[in-house]
Amino acid sequence: MELGLRGKVALINGATGGIGSEIARALGSEGVDLGLMVRDITAGQALAQGLRRDNPTLRVEVVQADLTLQPEVQQAVDEAVARLSRLDILVNVAGGALRGKLADVPAEEWARYLAVKPMGYVHSCRAALPYLRQSPDGRIVNIAGGHGKEPTAWSVMGGMINASVLSLTKALAEDLGPWGVTVNAINPGHTGTRRWKELVERRARERGIEYVAAERELLERVPLKRVVQPADIAALVVFLASERARSITGTMINVDGGRSRSI
Ligand SMILES: NC(=O)c1ccc[n+]([C@@H]2O[C@H](COP(=O)([O-])OP(=O)(O)OC[C@H]3O[C@@H](n4cnc5c(N)ncnc54)[C@H](OP(=O)(O)O)[C@@H]3O)[C@@H](O)[C@H]2O)c1
Repeated sequence: MELGLRGKVALINGATGGIGSEIARALGSEGVDLGLMVRDITAGQALAQGLRRDNPTLRVEVVQADLTLQPEVQQAVDEAVARLSRLDILVNVAGGALRGKLADVPAEEWARYLAVKPMGYVHSCRAALPYLRQSPDGRIVNIAGGHGKEPTAWSVMGGMINASVLSLTKALAEDLGPWGVTVNAINPGHTGTRRWKELVERRARERGIEYVAAERELLERVPLKRVVQPADIAALVVFLASERARSITGTMINVDGGRSRSI
């Protein structure tokens, strides 16, 4: 399927993470020039080097920003656009959430996590808006998380963070629709990054069972009985970023092996 992505420019925050780096690879393999907005410049340069090695014609620029600092985000977005000449696609991937019930999450961690996601997404979108409006096919893809729609006691922070991301997605879809900019969210389920390994290890420790048994337990509620791979999420980002998805906006798509129970 011709996706019409060649020559477009994407900016990805959280690009050094498990999911973000795979999104960078997938967009790069479709001929999308990349701005990697990273906190750790050394890790960002290493990723960029690998991407250029895989595809020597690809333009890859690394810009540095701590997403909790709005002026840094503004500067990094402007710098990326100045170097790459335009912006068509913004992918917000950074952050995460602490697991646990309300009483388990230390009070001081709330502001720290929320400052990255959703607030870093807000800063990134705000800085990117003027550029995306100029693109003939502007796109925003927000990586959210299933608990935003289906909160649980054990993921009170993830639920709050990701509900905010879903709300931002819907509001921006209405705001930017008249410019032809689409805004969508993806809800990853249990995804095979370092986060998953930590979760399985914690479950194994708490229950006094082997890693494999803990993994099986955690996947019990997942109809496909396996973790999602970062590449599965990246494939959907590529589609949503493409011309083929031009009529999809303001929506949220689960990539979770069927784990979500809502219809
Ligand atoms: N993995 C899952 O199972 C899962 C499930 C549902 C949703 N998600 C969502 O998917 C997204 C990516 O998850 P992941 O598993 O790939 O996480 P990850 O590997 O921990 O990557 C997180 C990324 O966010 C960046 N980041 C953190 N704080 C930052 C800050 N203040 N400024 C700039 N960048 C910052 C990290 O940069 P550094 O390298 O500098 O720390 C890293 O690149 C997150 O939004 C997460 O909530 C993941």
